[in-house]
Amino acid sequence: MSTHVNRKVWKRAQSGHLEGWAEYARRRVAGAPERRELWAGILAEVEKRAPIRPGEKILDIGCGLDTALDFVETEVSGFTVDTLAAELAAFGLSARAAHAAGELEHLPYRDAALDRVLLMNVLDHVRDAGSGLRETARVLRGGGTLVLSVDTYAGRRYQTKRLHKWWARARRAQTKHPLIFSKGSVERLLLGSGFRELDSLHVPGTKARRTLFLAHKC
Ligand SMILES: C[S@@+](CC[C@H](N)C(=O)[O-])C[C@H]1O[C@@H](n2cnc3c(N)ncnc32)[C@H](O)[C@@H]1O
Repeated sequence: MSTHVNRKVWKRAQSGHLEGWAEYARRRVAGAPERRELWAGILAEVEKRAPIRPGEKILDIGCGLDTALDFVETEVSGFTVDTLAAELAAFGLSARAAHAAGELEHLPYRDAALDRVLLMNVLDHVRDAGSGLRETARVLRGGGTLVLSVDTYAGRRYQTKRLHKWWARARRAQTKHPLIFSKGSVERLLLGSGFRELDSLHVPGTKARRTLFLAHKC
């Protein structure tokens, strides 16, 4: 399965996100406990494997309306990038980070500018996952950490999903997930983009298919 889609397919996915965020904003309660619980579980796993140090420069790419940085207890310098940042600003963005509109595939940062990148539930929503991961490696310093979560499928479920994606594209139907991955395809992309994989595990508190990958820039 391809790791990129054309801009039209991706744009359809983006309008789905905007509708989703507008709905979320209507229901949003500051510090919603289930969201706090979800991020606490994820960050506890991250702390065991690649602890966050005070002062780290951390970028949350595809942060959506509530950045994970809100739940990081260590004092860090936070940044976010989302293609919908301008639209999302109307709903109110976190004061914990500096926000920018931009694409994973063309990040507005210098080479090696960051210590850590969060790419949480984003990779199957983008236009070009391969160039996005190479761009992520570019902005991370050597040894910097990538924390990535994405839905991964195996066996018959993967084949069925591929068929559904193909059919949705043929009908020009909107799908919020233009791309689909197996665990192996994410690992290959990471290794081919300048990362060495540190670990992968199930994301606590989510469906079985959500996988958390921790990788270091080579
Ligand atoms: C499913 S949401 C995930 C939000 C958040 N990271 C979380 O875990 O709750 C995916 C987000 O990725 C953003 N996105 C999609 N394609 C992108 C790209 N190429 N570059 C940056 N952000 C992108 C969307 O606008 C959307 O807000």
